[in-house]
Amino acid sequence: MKQFVPQWIIEAKRDGKTIPESDLREFVNRFTDGSLPEYQMAAFAMAVFFRGMSGEEKHVLTDAMMRSGDTLSWESLDRPTADKHSTGGIGDKISIPLAPLVAACGVAVPMISGRGLGITGGTLDKLDAIPGYRTSLSVEEFRSVLKTVGCSIIGQTDRLAPADRKLYALRDVTGTVPSIPLITASILSKKLAEGAETLVFDVKCGSGAFMKTPEQARTLADSLVDGARRAGRKATAIIHDMNQPIGQCIGNALEIRESIEILQGAGPADTRKLVLELAVPMLTLSGVASDDADARRQLDAALASGAALETFAKMVVAQGGNGKVADTPAKILPTASFVADVVAPAETADTPQIESVDAETIGRVVLLLGGGRQIATDAIDYAVGIDRLASAGTSVVPGDLLLRLHARSREEAEALIPMALSAFRFR
Ligand code: URA
Repeated sequence: MKQFVPQWIIEAKRDGKTIPESDLREFVNRFTDGSLPEYQMAAFAMAVFFRGMSGEEKHVLTDAMMRSGDTLSWESLDRPTADKHSTGGIGDKISIPLAPLVAACGVAVPMISGRGLGITGGTLDKLDAIPGYRTSLSVEEFRSVLKTVGCSIIGQTDRLAPADRKLYALRDVTGTVPSIPLITASILSKKLAEGAETLVFDVKCGSGAFMKTPEQARTLADSLVDGARRAGRKATAIIHDMNQPIGQCIGNALEIRESIEILQGAGPADTRKLVLELAVPMLTLSGVASDDADARRQLDAALASGAALETFAKMVVAQGGNGKVADTPAKILPTASFVADVVAPAETADTPQIESVDAETIGRVVLLLGGGRQIATDAIDYAVGIDRLASAGTSVVPGDLLLRLHARSREEAEALIPMALSAFRFR
């Protein structure tokens, strides 16, 4: 009879051996049901951190984690399904315009998103800025919104990949988060359980991101695509530089405003470009566009006709929110009581071009304004943040606007001006 002895599995991984499928599955199952202690999973995670995993081991780990809870299927829908996953970054509001835009082109987008912790705000926190919008729907409500509107963005349920929730919390406190196999299994177990047939990954790289170098980002991107394909999904990945923040708005309500601008066919060029770069493969891999040019034509048409904006408004209404936000965001979204200009300093008389804007510093300023969480239970102020953020490459003279701080008071804004200025390098 085959014996299952957890420490033998830990020892095998510690010594760089490949773990047989049945042992790996049992290890995950016992961890999920609580019969395998957390210290053994922590030791295993550390062994994986140092020794890595083969493609097949990663696939088995992902599959076991995915099957630890409910899995959704969209076979009864009359349209293909696609979703994107981003490793997140400062000002990353891409999901909010992307889902309705892609849905308006005939691909359903069942999107399960997360909240932010630390400096990166989560999609759900941004959507919470819309009065009435419910991010917590039952599976039946999620299905119904997807069927009637074509897209739905909600939060993770307790029943989706519970093994990941447990393992992620453990990794967070045992120094085992930055492991490519563990990140891959974590992201994919949730995305595969969500059931979309096509997955597009947006892997960030740089100061405001998890992966600091392009090489690390490429390795994670390849691992995610390989894992998704092994699981029978269509998949591709892009790598996006996160040294600069995305767009000109950072902060929850302000990012909703910028997302609406994108859906109106306007908004900052970098944000629009990234939305389209991710939307194109969602359409081509799903088969609703014959090639990239055809996808671009369909996406441009959905923006120009107002269909994408209308889909967004319908999603907001279907999830309990005030749909008027799509037409009059300034009237519907919360606004901060004090707005302070931050302008180019005297030194720009000699160095008149912005060389870079540090994403991490900008994220920290928004966090300190009250727009993010320092611990998981912190309340967020949806109104605060930054807008009109100048981008790298812009020419400035002393006194030109670099950004505006939306704060709860003059004192809070003024206290953060030096930090906001420190994000800028001039040349
Ligand atoms: N996001 C996840 O969901 N899991 C990870 O491990 C890292 C980023």
